[in-house]
Amino acid sequence: MPAGTLVLYTDQPARRADLLRALEQIAPCTTLGAAEPPPSATCIALVADLDLLVPAPLTGLRSLIASTPDLPRVFLMRSMGTRSLSAARGLGGRLCLPAETPVGTVVEALRAQIRPPAAPPKPTAPVAGSAPGVPLVAQAADRAGAVIASLLESARASGTVDAALVNESLDPILGAIGVGGLTAWLETVRAYDDATYQHCLLVAGLAATFAIDLGFSATDRQLLVRAALVHDVGKAKIPLAILNKPGPLDPAERTVMCTHAALGHEILVKAGGFDETVLAVVRHHHEMLDGSGYPDGLKGDAIPDIVRLITVCDVYAALVERRPYRPPLPAAEAMRILHGMKGKLDGYLVRAFERSVAGT
Ligand SMILES: [Fe+2]
Ligand SMILES: [Fe+2]
Repeated sequence: MPAGTLVLYTDQPARRADLLRALEQIAPCTTLGAAEPPPSATCIALVADLDLLVPAPLTGLRSLIASTPDLPRVFLMRSMGTRSLSAARGLGGRLCLPAETPVGTVVEALRAQIRPPAAPPKPTAPVAGSAPGVPLVAQAADRAGAVIASLLESARASGTVDAALVNESLDPILGAIGVGGLTAWLETVRAYDDATYQHCLLVAGLAATFAIDLGFSATDRQLLVRAALVHDVGKAKIPLAILNKPGPLDPAERTVMCTHAALGHEILVKAGGFDETVLAVVRHHHEMLDGSGYPDGLKGDAIPDIVRLITVCDVYAALVERRPYRPPLPAAEAMRILHGMKGKLDGYLVRAFERSVAGT
């Protein structure tokens, strides 16, 4: 851990003694009001615990951020609404957690930034139990990543998968999204160096967020996240040279890639234990309302709502994820493209999805 002080900018120092004690486990911590100048000692990280919707001078906070733009930081948010989040982002707050996040999770989130881990290893087996000291979000992502890895590995090797395995990661994902919010989830899963794991985790996080915001029952939330996690299982049967090609696919390669939807459906039917809804998502998540999708060219009402919902999450995830040949698209640009797919995507769901993503 580098030498120096942490800085806690807070507008309620008397109420955050617990947070201060927890932060001091990392390094000495200086508590300041948002207008107070930063300490002269070297700062190694920043926690902002401020109501960003209340007009107040933030001169000290801004001066610290301006002098050390890469300073590790966590913003604790009184509100996870759009206005509050855009204020935090305007201050370079990439990791925004609700104010009620357990202090241990805040400490771990900060530690992870101060000493960033190497890119997570490609997991090969489910992570059993809870590893102490691992942040909730990272822990859920690791567990879900391990499930996806195991799923793809077994589909690749034997052409079948274990339905029960998928269920292990549903509650951790929903819990991590509920506590950490979508922003923290996206930040965490973007560290995965395997494009397919990263994509499935992104789609699962987006689906969990969407399901929570749409007021789905616990059972339906789990169903949606289960479908999201396995939606691309057919990619296990796509040659790695195509799957991991560090550039856009040519038409012949694209044709091969498009077989993943039908292949995934076949794998899950053979495995047994997956309900009809999940099977429909896996086979039809690339169908478009105008019939231009694949593999069956379904149109309009022939595409069930839950499939349409995952399709929206899937298209958005593909746009905002990191690719070897292009940086992730900003959220606003990705939403613009989704709105432009009129006639192909369900416009009502795209608008609801936009509200959901913006509100987290
Ligand atoms: Fe797909
Ligand atoms: Fe996908």
